[in-house]
Amino acid sequence: MLTQALLIDDSRSVLNFLKHHIEAEGLIEATTFLDPVEALACARECVFDLVLVDYEMPHMDGIAFIRTFRTLPGCADIPIAMITSRQTDDVKMEALQAGATDFLPKQPQSVEMTVRLRNLVRLGAAVRKQNDRAADLASAVAAATQKLGEREEEIILRLALAVEYRDNDTGEHTLRVARYSRIIAEQLGLPARLCRDIYLAAPLHDVGKVAIPDNILLKPGKLTDEEMAVIRTHATIGKKILAGSSCELIQLGAQIAAGHHERWDGAGYPNGLKADEIPVAARVVAVADVFDALTTRRPYKEPMPLEVARKYLVENKGRQFDPACVEAFLARWDEVVEIAAGQNATPFKKTEATLVPMIESVAESCPVEDGSP
Ligand SMILES: [Fe+2]
Repeated sequence: MLTQALLIDDSRSVLNFLKHHIEAEGLIEATTFLDPVEALACARECVFDLVLVDYEMPHMDGIAFIRTFRTLPGCADIPIAMITSRQTDDVKMEALQAGATDFLPKQPQSVEMTVRLRNLVRLGAAVRKQNDRAADLASAVAAATQKLGEREEEIILRLALAVEYRDNDTGEHTLRVARYSRIIAEQLGLPARLCRDIYLAAPLHDVGKVAIPDNILLKPGKLTDEEMAVIRTHATIGKKILAGSSCELIQLGAQIAAGHHERWDGAGYPNGLKADEIPVAARVVAVADVFDALTTRRPYKEPMPLEVARKYLVENKGRQFDPACVEAFLARWDEVVEIAAGQNATPFKKTEATLVPMIESVAESCPVEDGSP
């Protein structure tokens, strides 16, 4: 690739001389400008590896040019030589402070001019090579980071699905709770990153159910008080499974698993936390989880009509649920209805796009036959 040089001088003859001289170094192409303002406009659009600029020019002197050029994106490290003849040390110092790399004497054919020009060309090519390498590395790191993030999401969702199959469910509950949770988080005005993380971590809310014995977890009838106490341990067990991770998503999953059965009024479990003591992600998922449980068919119950479930949320606002979470949920009611009807299948991320078809195909081949508490 040719090294690109930008030459600016208000003298046509000097420009022609510089262009000829610099292109004689080989593998370099020079673009010339008599007007520094036009040169800056060009530098905003094109990439240059080396700049030679005169000091005394109409409209803008070389120091003002260098100062402006240095502010352009990607132009901080490009070598700039100011062409000087009789300038004082004060002017040269000012040019250095503005960002000049070197000075070239205005003496055609001098050995000094030739050597320093050659060094500047080499320096420009080296800076270009270094910048290209840095850009390649940055894009490789970004691609690897994205891949890791996608794998993290996929593993979390597959783990949540494994738990749900134990519960004789088909994965749809997991995805609906995630989607409802995202709506609430967004409507609450939480930061975009946290909304995304709540959406991704919400499926882990019942991960502790892996440790509940089948005869209790899958019991079709009403649970005894003792059995209910065992079921309730799933919140603490979920926290134990997920706690201590260095992964932020799993840390959030631990908060959700531990806190999604706490109640706003403090009457929930496992710790009887109340109001703001309950992490916001858990308060969000509590609304989403209960609404989905109420409105979906289970082997032991018919689905509650959406409007009746809506009324339940309103009646329990400030008792079971964070009032702000209920308000946020109801403010997006049209989307809630779409999700409940299974219409909101727009993939939010690659993992969901990959897994939703898989979940649906498994759901068709493995219909729910047994009851669960
Ligand atoms: Fe739960």
